Amino acid sequence: MNTPTARGARSAAQGILADDRAQQRQSILEGLKKAYWMEIETVMSYIANSVNPDGVRAQEIIESLQEDIQEELGHAQRFATRIKELYGVVPGSKEFVAEQDALQPPEHQTDVVHVIKGVIEAETGAIEHYNSLIELTDGVDPVTNDMVIDILRDEEGHRRLFEGYLREYEAEGLA
Ligand SMILES: [Fe+2]
Ligand SMILES: [Fe+2]
Repeated sequence: MNTPTARGARSAAQGILADDRAQQRQSILEGLKKAYWMEIETVMSYIANSVNPDGVRAQEIIESLQEDIQEELGHAQRFATRIKELYGVVPGSKEFVAEQDALQPPEHQTDVVHVIKGVIEAETGAIEHYNSLIELTDGVDPVTNDMVIDILRDEEGHRRLFEGYLREYEAEGLA
């Protein structure tokens, strides 16, 4: 791997940007790219699921997802920026592979429980991946570590909110 440092600039001697950390950077970059795609797909899924649902009960879910879209978009941008900072390249759209089966539109657009469960599934996937990224960067790349901890907190909040919605539906015998 070529030295990523600009010609004439001194390489970082310590930290994750050091020349001899190229391999560690590579595995962190893989994790960051996966995170980036997860956020992008979440934005797509939340846009669709903030528009499709029908009915009085759907309103709360719609408003909640509308807010989350902006947060998830912000996460995608933070992951992209960190990819560049670690001498990576933010992937182009042709590399995207969709994975969120649970967030495909339900058969009936009044099926709000389907959407709630899909959101919980997506947030859980993010929480699992970000925990692994936090482990991977612990003591190795404190800046990525700190950023992912911050984002993990948002995802835990999203998950908790939708768990609350699901509980309400369960209490009423609707889920
Ligand atoms: Fe996110
Ligand atoms: Fe989220």
